[in-house]
This record gives sequence, structure tokens and C-alpha cells, in this order.
Amino acid sequence: MPAVSFQNVSKIYPSSRGDLHALKAVSFDIQSGEFFGLLGPNGAGKTTLISILAGLASATGGRVLVKGHDVQTDYQAARRALGVVPQELVFDPFFNVREALRFQSGYFGIRHNDAWIDELLAGLGLTDKASANMRQLSGGMKRRVLVAQALVHKPPVIVLDEPTAGVDVELRQTLWHFISQLNKQGSTVLLTTHYLEEAEALCNRIAMLNRGEVVALDRTSELLRRAASNVLRFKTDDTLPDDLAAMARVTGRVVQLPANDAQAVERILASVREAGVHVDDIEIRKADLEDVFIEVIEGSNSAHRAQEGISPPGRPKAETAPMGGNEDTSMPSVGANSP
Ligand SMILES: Nc1ncnc2c1ncn2[C@@H]1O[C@H](COP(=O)(O)OP(=O)(O)O)[C@@H](O)[C@H]1O
Ligand SMILES: [Mg+2]
Repeated sequence: MPAVSFQNVSKIYPSSRGDLHALKAVSFDIQSGEFFGLLGPNGAGKTTLISILAGLASATGGRVLVKGHDVQTDYQAARRALGVVPQELVFDPFFNVREALRFQSGYFGIRHNDAWIDELLAGLGLTDKASANMRQLSGGMKRRVLVAQALVHKPPVIVLDEPTAGVDVELRQTLWHFISQLNKQGSTVLLTTHYLEEAEALCNRIAMLNRGEVVALDRTSELLRRAASNVLRFKTDDTLPDDLAAMARVTGRVVQLPANDAQAVERILASVREAGVHVDDIEIRKADLEDVFIEVIEGSNSAHRAQEGISPPGRPKAETAPMGGNEDTSMPSVGANSP
């Protein structure tokens, strides 16, 4: 039995400007013991999916099972199997840290939980904050308490929605050390994050969500294998020629281009030279999950534009697809719907 099963989950938010289809028949399973990543740009529907999983929002269609329990019809059992760390910082300002954790234990009917609470406090670097009032804590510390709160009832499935957004490096490390340990001991983890290097390091499988649809789902190693294997990176203040601009990932002065072999590198540099573009700090690196993510999301956006009859900015898709073929970038929902 999967730890979590999303079956044709759809969510429509009605609005005066027309219905918003936040989720469109999302289907995938997470097996027990997985460290599963759910990635996607802002507004993709990640939090909506997690809210439905946690029973905080109801799906318009489809169903979600946690350890075989339907989150609607068998809410208590499903909720008990889940530890959810929400994206928003919500807390009770009148409690201190230990009280908040005891209160949360009480919510699950657990009376004498201090041994586990102490372990949680230690594991999350909160021991010396146990009697601090929630109000006095920094954002990062509150985030740790939210994680501890999600875990008071030792749930077999741990769900973290952007737990490291705006959080310092030390907390990220503490958190990942702790969550990885729980995962090694058998907990299933579902993580959404903007930090793709985190997902790459931690998750054995990854689903990418865009506009409410699963557009890729595979083992992390497979997703990485699909990407252009090398990336040429340089810095410039000049405007790139069109052919390069169409496939480049530009962050400030830094330009990155897929370049699988020496010929591709030569082509790019020749094009740069012809355009009279001045470049600095040239280097070649291996493609990472962010490259894959950009390819998949761009591919699904241009497929969407084609479907809606919107003409794409820049050049047609076949030329922009960095993998050299667009069949692969539009593949995903096929794989996504099979178990
Ligand atoms: N309560 C709501 N009412 C109306 N629209 C919402 C609500 N919550 C989310 N949305 C919309 O649904 C889409 C998905 O949002 P969300 O699930 O928060 O995405 P993500 O977590 O991937 O950034 C967005 O377009 C968002 O504006
Ligand atoms: Mg979100």
C-alpha cells in the first residue's frame, strides 16, 4: 500500500474572472520510505495539493489516501498518519515552546510525551528555547517549532511545504540532518522546496507540477540523466545574439547554456564572437536539477501556449528545447499517471 495516493485530484477556485483550475487530475503515489520531492514554480498548485492532503481544503474531484485512509471519509486516521509543516508560519503567541508541543500532543490524545518532545527539541536545536515564548522567537526558530509540532505524534508520513524558504543555512542543515534521520528510520517524506539543490541531494523521486498538472515524475537520477549533460557558463554585460538568447538561462550577468559536447561549446563561442559579445569567466559544469527543471517547465509552458494558440515569445519551441527534441519535454503526464 502506498504511503500517499493522489487519485485524479482536481481543485477549482471559483472567481469572478472565471474559474481557476489550481489542480487538474493530479495522480501519483508515494511509496512508504520514500523521500519525495514536489517541485514547481510559484502558483503551480503545490500548497493546494498539500492542503487537500492535510484535510485543510477539499478537492473538487478525485481522492487522496494516506496509508489507505481517505482524507475525507476517514479524516481522523489519515490526519494521524500525517505530520504537516505548513508553508505559512502559524502559531499561538501565548504558549512557550514546550507548552505548544504539549498542546499539540494533547490534540492527538497523547498525554505523557515529554521524552519525545525533548528528543525533538534536541534534534532541532531548540533545547535552550524550551521555555521561550513563541512571540519572542525569530522566524527561523518558529519554523523549527512548527517542524517539532508536526512530529509530536510520530507520524509515519512527514509533509514539509517550503520549510527552508527564507531560512538560514544552519537551520537548513539542522533540519535536513534531522529529517533524513527520520527517513532512514522508515518515515516517508514529502517535500516542496524552491531550493533545487536541496531536492537533488535529498529526494529519491521528484514530481514537477506546472499550472496544476504533473509535467514530470521520475527518479531524481533519471531526471538528471535526461538533461543536457553539460552547461557552458560565462559572464557578460552585452546582449546575446538571438539564437543563444533563446536557449540561455540568464541570472544577472551570468549566462548558462546547454552544451553537451565540444562542438556545442565551439558553436556557442563562435556565435558569441561573431556578435561581438564580450565574455568573462568561462567555465563548463555538469547539468543539475535546476537545468532539468527549467527544461521541463519551459517545455510544458510552450506546449500550453501552442494549445491555447498563443504565439511564444522568441523562437518556436523545437529550437528552444535544449534537449534537441521536444517529445521528451512534453512526455511527463504519461509517466505521471502510471503507478
Ligand atoms: N484560497 C484560494 N483562493 C483562490 N485561489 C487560490 C487559493 N489558494 C491558492 N489559489 C491559487 O491557486 C493556484 C495555486 O496556488 P498554490 O497551491 O499556493 O501554489 P504553490 O504552492 O505551488 O505556489 C494559484 O494560482 C493561487 O493563486
Ligand atoms: Mg506554496
